[in-house]
Amino acid sequence: MKNNIPEAAHVIPSDFIIIGGAGDLSIRKIMPALFWRFLDNQINNKSSIIICVHNILNIEDLKSKLKPHCKEAIEKEIENKEKWSSFINLISIVVLDVVTGLGADNLSAILKDRNDIDRPCIFYFAISSSLFGNTCNLIKNAGLNFPQSRLVVEKPIGHNKLSAIEINNKLSEFFEEHQIYRIDHYLGKETVQNLMALRFANTFFENQWDNKNIDNVQITVAETIGVADRILYYNEYGAIRDMLQNHLLQLICLVAMEPPSYFDADQVRDEKLRVLKALRPLNANEMQIGQYQGYENELGKVSNTETFVSLKVSIDNWRWAGVPFYIRTGKKMATRASEIIVTFKKKPHDIFSKLKEDKEEDAPNRLIIRVQPQEGLKLKLTSKAPGPGGMRFFPSELNLSFGDTFSERLPDAYERLLMDVARGNQTLFMRLDEVLAAWDYIDPIVDKAKKTPPQLYRAGTMGPEDKILLSNGHLWIDPKDDKK
Ligand code: BG6
Repeated sequence: MKNNIPEAAHVIPSDFIIIGGAGDLSIRKIMPALFWRFLDNQINNKSSIIICVHNILNIEDLKSKLKPHCKEAIEKEIENKEKWSSFINLISIVVLDVVTGLGADNLSAILKDRNDIDRPCIFYFAISSSLFGNTCNLIKNAGLNFPQSRLVVEKPIGHNKLSAIEINNKLSEFFEEHQIYRIDHYLGKETVQNLMALRFANTFFENQWDNKNIDNVQITVAETIGVADRILYYNEYGAIRDMLQNHLLQLICLVAMEPPSYFDADQVRDEKLRVLKALRPLNANEMQIGQYQGYENELGKVSNTETFVSLKVSIDNWRWAGVPFYIRTGKKMATRASEIIVTFKKKPHDIFSKLKEDKEEDAPNRLIIRVQPQEGLKLKLTSKAPGPGGMRFFPSELNLSFGDTFSERLPDAYERLLMDVARGNQTLFMRLDEVLAAWDYIDPIVDKAKKTPPQLYRAGTMGPEDKILLSNGHLWIDPKDDKK
């Protein structure tokens, strides 16, 4: 126990096999996450990491690709330099062509003797979903689909419901549902999990968490980066399929779901599924799409792909009837910030109204859940100004900044999720029925978007001028870029 925080859950030695191991995801996210977990002794020398690459790569080249992304970890403590070398010793590189199967023998030569049923054999597919079928075949033919094998697949799964079903049919020919971990890294973010703690480990908020007390919910996931070298992928998918279908819908689920009986994988996912099924199909005037200026120049051709989307989402159930969930996400926006803002209803009667010279309304209470950066929670209140000058009011806030409260760094989402796979915990991974229900909601939205040219917006702004909230008597609350 350190600072009243229980020790991290134990993880047994495992094999991590990363298909697409030299790709961007592996180098920027998966490998640094494994190194941080190694530094925290959650992964030890008995584990192994097998990097499967398409083209020959030697360990020195891999090291120099990884180093910039592991720099903070290497430099954090003096002894970490030594641990970096021990970590590198865990790695083997296998050249593997997942289409022809060339190189599979080398992979099975390393893993064949793994008859320890308790040792997880984790295949991370950091590759395009069009290669999932071939790769599963290859694993099966190489005799590597052990009972303890687990498969991690990235979103988006498919580009619509039909293709998601096809991909999942392929996966389930070779692996059982309990072996498949569909990752949505937003679920691994500290504040996203804290949202569940806030709601279900306390009584305070849950009593207020409904349409009697909440006026509206806003979720913003704004990025300052553009699409850069992912433009070919991105142009096929757009913001709706890249971000909305997964990350934003998952955030809505966590805000809106009923308390499960237990924090157990299927119970949590059952409740999220109920939210997805309660989403009301969208009207045309409840969506706006935009594209940042200069996108077509980057792409080198005309394109209607949206780099921004905003929606008014309605949830048809007793708890949320009449409460709009406004959500938006975009690239090249003014600030990098992800926030969930819950605005509570105004008080029914103002006992101080006669004391106030200006008749301006007090701001309503707001709960701001800052997912990133500067993770934390703020509760906006109205307080009395100190001193004997009469009952004067000012907006104040209760502020829980995780950065200030925990001196330790906050682990990246991938660290938590990879350790959950090794521990066999599927709570923070999407079940097939959730993915399909998300596509049920998204497919008609994609069809609508295809019929509407995106509105252009200037890079460095918060997207095109709002048309949705205003007509509902609301305004977007822009995330503050405060460094506090
Ligand atoms: C990915 C999307 O899933 O999430 C990217 O494909 C996006 O387009 C990224 O940039 C955002 O993740 P984060 O953790 O930086 O908010």
